[in-house]
Amino acid sequence: MKSFLTILKWISGGLGILVICFIIFANVRGGRTFDAPLPDLAASQDSSVIARGKYLVYGPGHCATCHMPMDKHAEVEAGAELPLIGGFELAIPPGIFRAPNLTPDVETGIGSFSDGHLARALRYSVREDGRSLFPFMPFQDMSDEDIVAIISFLRSQPPVHNPMETTELSFLGKTAVAFNLIGPVHPTKTPPRAVKIDSTIEYGEYVANAIANCRGCHTTRDLKTGAFIGIDFAGGMIMKDDPIANGYSFISPNITPHLTDGVMTHWSESTFINRFKAGRIHQGSPMPWGAFSIMTDLELKAVYRYLQALDPAPGKFTKTVFAPGDVLPG
Ligand code: HEC
Ligand code: HEC
Repeated sequence: MKSFLTILKWISGGLGILVICFIIFANVRGGRTFDAPLPDLAASQDSSVIARGKYLVYGPGHCATCHMPMDKHAEVEAGAELPLIGGFELAIPPGIFRAPNLTPDVETGIGSFSDGHLARALRYSVREDGRSLFPFMPFQDMSDEDIVAIISFLRSQPPVHNPMETTELSFLGKTAVAFNLIGPVHPTKTPPRAVKIDSTIEYGEYVANAIANCRGCHTTRDLKTGAFIGIDFAGGMIMKDDPIANGYSFISPNITPHLTDGVMTHWSESTFINRFKAGRIHQGSPMPWGAFSIMTDLELKAVYRYLQALDPAPGKFTKTVFAPGDVLPG
């Protein structure tokens, strides 16, 4: 009996040590830094380059939706082009994520970051200090020219001193980094130097995937790691606890041209464009309708053509908007 108890003690002691090792491992490896190439791109002072950057930032790229204090959200959505002083905070299982100050303030913003570091954050999801960013920003396939345009615009803003807390990973978030579930991303193909801006399907694909993140919200994802688990654009991603949603929750609709399941299968091009110009209809919807409402007709046409050319994917959601207290499926 005695020896049995001794064995049990040893086993539980061993397990305890294993658990402690695991916690230390996750904490240390969860904060590690990564090597990723520093793109050889430099900001420009050309006014047309800065104008393109400004359009991407406040329009399809919707950077201002996140890199802004939450109490400014309504103003930004209504079209105010305020400096990107940071402040949006999202508390989800992997941690509390805070979108930083992107004005050129040296102490609290990007003033001390090199152009290469900013380009690396967008293309490889590696932050200035070498740690990896969580997948909020799927810009890895953006062209060199558009990255330069964005950086040039960021540098042209007035510097605003805005000290704020930084992202804090939870144990789950650190474990995800420790086990490579989260880490740097890479372009899916050699990023183009420039893309032709026109109403073609090709340009629509570029806008939807490399700039506006349509795929990121309209595809089912694992909420712990952000990994894509559903068919692209077939919807189904559950969005709840969004700080701007006032208690509402959403399931993104299917935007493939599936005959019965796609929400926009029977929309004409002008219905689509007008829907975007109309802005947010459902209170609290996380879709950045305000930012998208300034997208050009040409760009919206291209996105429409791209979406209507996708393979129809099944997946119907009887409801996509849930008022506070409504029960979400799953
Ligand atoms: C959906 C919200 C969201 C959008 C849209 C968004 N960001 Fe971010 N951004 C974040 C969050 C959150 C972080 C911090 C993430 C983390 O700590 O893992 C971040 C981090 C960054 C960083 C890293 C700074 C550093 O420490 O190195 C840069 C640069 C950046 N964003 C630029 C942009 C630009 C430019 C755009 C638009 C083209 C943009 N972001 C759009 C949420 C967003
Ligand atoms: C941050 C998440 C998010 C992003 C990014 C996003 N959407 Fe949505 N989208 C939603 C949600 C949630 C809904 C359902 C609520 C609503 O209609 O506002 C929706 C609704 C829609 C609808 C149906 C509107 C209606 O009136 O029935 C269309 C069409 C659509 N999105 C297309 C797009 C396209 C195209 C893009 C990229 C340019 C995009 N979405 C980007 C989350 C998103």
